[in-house]
Amino acid sequence: MTAAPSPRCDRISELTADQLRARLTEALHVYVTAMGYPPSTATQRGPMWSAHTMRPGWRCVGAFNDRDELIGIGYGYLGAAGQWWHEQVRRGLLSVGGDVDRWLTDYFELTELHVHPGSQGGGLGGEILRRLLLGAEGSTVLLSTPEGPTRAWRLYRRLGFDDVLRDYRFTGDPRPFAVLGRSLPLAD
Ligand SMILES: CC(C)(COP(=O)(O)OP(=O)(O)OC[C@H]1O[C@@H](n2cnc3c(N)ncnc32)[C@H](O)[C@@H]1OP(=O)(O)O)[C@@H](O)C(=O)NCCC(=O)NCCS
Repeated sequence: MTAAPSPRCDRISELTADQLRARLTEALHVYVTAMGYPPSTATQRGPMWSAHTMRPGWRCVGAFNDRDELIGIGYGYLGAAGQWWHEQVRRGLLSVGGDVDRWLTDYFELTELHVHPGSQGGGLGGEILRRLLLGAEGSTVLLSTPEGPTRAWRLYRRLGFDDVLRDYRFTGDPRPFAVLGRSLPLAD
């Protein structure tokens, strides 16, 4: 059994693609633990997270404790036509007469944001997200999150995210999702 990492954040810093790949197992552990997913999910997601590092505008921020263990992770990249998520959101926007040009022309897709459960509730997720967006390319940022009164929702609202799509069903997932967005840059 893996011991729980020390919860206190010592530093938050940007990770290069090489640095994330070198710490991928650790990053995926934070992800499955935060989301409450079975450990096997990490194995499935590894190749995808690795491939995402090659996408234009990719940017990653991590939070570390005093033993240099990863306790929080966030990343995203510039979304583009042909990508699965882009096409799903486009389909959703078209179905409700939404503004495809405004949202899907030049956006940073916030793909992942997770804080280890032992370190949640103290503002760390907000700080990772702020650091990620301060250096992000794109004139808007978009994300999807399951509907429901979660901490993630409160965080996104606090940071000024508005509704883009509500109760949306992505192909292959029965849960209703919201797609949220806001303009960039983020005020310093
Ligand atoms: C969503 C998630 C990343 C947010 O990270 P977090 O560190 O827990 O959340 P926040 O940065 O918003 O901080 C949490 C609380 O600390 C408070 N806070 C903010 N700054 C603070 C500070 N400097 N000191 C103390 N508390 C602070 C906030 O008011 C917030 O309160 P609330 O959640 O009751 O509204 C994290 O909870 C998580 O990993 N959840 C599971 C995975 C998930 O849902 N990911 C998103 C998928 S879309």
